[in-house]
Amino acid sequence: MDWMTQAVAQAQGLYPYVPGKPIEQLLREKGLDKAIKLASNENAYGPSPKAILAIHAAIDECHRYPDGDSHTLKAALAKKHAVHTNQILLGNGSNEVLELVIRCFAGVGDEVIYSQHGFIVYALAAQAAGATRVPVQDTSELEHDLDAMLSAITERTKIICIANPNNPTGTLLSNDALQTFFDALPHHIIVILDEAYDEFVSDIKTDSLTTLQYDGLVVSRTFSKAYGLAGCRIGYAVGNADLLEAVNRFREPFNVNSLAQVAALAALDDVDWVMDKVTRIKQARTFLEQQLAKRGLLSIKSFANFILLHHPEALELHQQFENIGIITRPLAGYGLPDYLRVSVGNDEENTAFLDALDTVLFKLKA
Ligand SMILES: Cc1ncc(COP(=O)(O)O)c(C=O)c1O
Repeated sequence: MDWMTQAVAQAQGLYPYVPGKPIEQLLREKGLDKAIKLASNENAYGPSPKAILAIHAAIDECHRYPDGDSHTLKAALAKKHAVHTNQILLGNGSNEVLELVIRCFAGVGDEVIYSQHGFIVYALAAQAAGATRVPVQDTSELEHDLDAMLSAITERTKIICIANPNNPTGTLLSNDALQTFFDALPHHIIVILDEAYDEFVSDIKTDSLTTLQYDGLVVSRTFSKAYGLAGCRIGYAVGNADLLEAVNRFREPFNVNSLAQVAALAALDDVDWVMDKVTRIKQARTFLEQQLAKRGLLSIKSFANFILLHHPEALELHQQFENIGIITRPLAGYGLPDYLRVSVGNDEENTAFLDALDTVLFKLKA
């Protein structure tokens, strides 16, 4: 078999992750000079000033490889979560952590369970690992159905992936519900609890790392959302030391770059700044939800830094938004063609979004 045929066979059925459209791309496509991106659940307020200073200070050393073990950052995270450093695994975004765990524990013949509207990377990573994907239907409120997940377990199930809060639905499971679920699981199963949006619920639920008991639990967190460091690509997992030691063998030696390491360390030290922005984002989310409700467009209550907008012509709405320089996220790829996901922006961006919404709705009616 030649390499081209081989490549095609290998990639059969694989499809790339479709990210929120970058601002530069929309400007190019539409010939605009300004655009607002509300498509990737970033922190519209940017990184903490301390993180920016730390990046500036570290630039001069960019000719050196980073610390491949991210020793200092790992120590800070271990302290924050009151665990040993060997219970932390750092990744090039939490995305990498998710992929590494799935690649390590699931292969051909194994099954990976996740919610049908769960974060799409679980399906992509399971497929890339050669494992069988087992999407499970959500409840009618688009919440993860933990009972249905239990029923989907077979002896081939290796991993269950749960995002809490979930992207793109924004729904939240309580720790009680999760613990009841864990208590019913066969013990060989690994659970990835993806808490990319945890900072947005830290005031309404106890920390899962101190509350939940399950040996095969891997909790993933990220600096991309509340911490405003999405472009640096840094996230991590906390879990059983032996389990993470195995995953660590799949890791590329210098997967977390030096600027990301110092930025994350500084951001951790600026928690007041981060939490102040989280508070503002949540207030703005409530405001946007009220505004959508007024227009009869609200769907599900979100617990993260985005809102879901329900509209029968969601894709058309998204395209009209793009024409006037606002990037939202259509959800047909998630099996939710009647929904648009809109990240909460800063005040100026949210106002621009609401103005654009009225313009676009008016046009659609005309
Ligand atoms: C639920 C969830 N998990 C993980 C990620 C990956 O984030 P990152 O790789 O930037 O840490 C995202 C990003 O949107 C997400 O929504």
